[in-house]
Amino acid sequence: MKILVTGGTGYIGSHTCCELLENDFEVVIVDNFFNSSPDVVGKIEEISKKKVSFYEGDVCDKAFLKGVFEKEKIDAVIHFAGYKAVGESVKKPLMYYRNNLDSTITLLEVMQEFGCKKIVFSSSATVYGNPEKLPITEDFPLHTTNPYGTTKLMIEDILKDLYVSDNDWAIAILRYFNPIGAHKSGLIGENPNGIPNNLMPYIVKVANHELEQLSVFGNDYNTVDGTGVRDYIHVVDLAKGHIKAIEKVLKDNGVDAYNLGTGNGYSVLQLVNTFMEVNGINVPYKIVERRSGDIDACYASTDKANEKLNWHAELGIEEMCRDAYNFVLKNK
Ligand code: WQD
Repeated sequence: MKILVTGGTGYIGSHTCCELLENDFEVVIVDNFFNSSPDVVGKIEEISKKKVSFYEGDVCDKAFLKGVFEKEKIDAVIHFAGYKAVGESVKKPLMYYRNNLDSTITLLEVMQEFGCKKIVFSSSATVYGNPEKLPITEDFPLHTTNPYGTTKLMIEDILKDLYVSDNDWAIAILRYFNPIGAHKSGLIGENPNGIPNNLMPYIVKVANHELEQLSVFGNDYNTVDGTGVRDYIHVVDLAKGHIKAIEKVLKDNGVDAYNLGTGNGYSVLQLVNTFMEVNGINVPYKIVERRSGDIDACYASTDKANEKLNWHAELGIEEMCRDAYNFVLKNK
């Protein structure tokens, strides 16, 4: 079976390509390197010892995308390509709506034209907004507080309407919690350019002396130690969840959403302290004021993914911390 992976050289995309190859799928990658680098293609092939087909281009470019579908007989698509920085989306909403919606609608139109109606979509727990209670189940109210999250919610609605219009579609919507960590080889991982927005990449840059000190955004939340609690999931576990989702859409039609988390919440300080213990390194930090838009706590109920996708996260917070730092050490 041949799977098209849009954004396949990105953080989650590259780990998913490795898992697809590991499971004997053929992989076609489309990427414009907006948030990744060309050397990742070779790293994916080095890890999996298999070749991929790669096409550099923008998913918004319909002629380019049709060209890919003409050359490759695609059985299903995993759609990662999109902008994903919450803060940037608040400053540049039109850029986010244009890119994330245009790319997705273009992709779906081309898929329809070529009779390929099986897709796994990269969504986010951000569609739950600030949940009333925990853990979060997939039937919770959906509410977004930033343009990035709103593009994810709008695309989920587009996919649901598409299925209503044509029951031949098979659609799995995956809502990621907080992906961190890296492939155990250290060849691929999360390597954002500039100052990271997210916690783990920031911790790693402080540990690596690229940044001086971690700012902990508030310690007056209603949590175990006052700092924000999140459901961190190892990126390799997340990638494996995509394999289960692809197997599902190759088998059954329909449209459904699944939480991909561990079901466990860890606070900022718990993560920082685990990182320091596991890697035997100091990460200086200071408590500062809250970051606007942050919520107290967020973690998943994973019952639906466990039962319907036969998927469970297996790696713990220690492996996440060890693998995240190993990636930096291997790529100094
Ligand atoms: C985690 C915790 C912060 C940085 C975001 C997006 C979400 C998804 C994952 C795309 C919070 C605290 C952070 C720092 C800190 N992305 N923190 N100092 O905000 O849960 O989720 O990334 O899909 O859509 O919203 O992740 O890593 O930014 O924050 O104290 O320098 O770490 O307050 O409690 P978040 P995060």
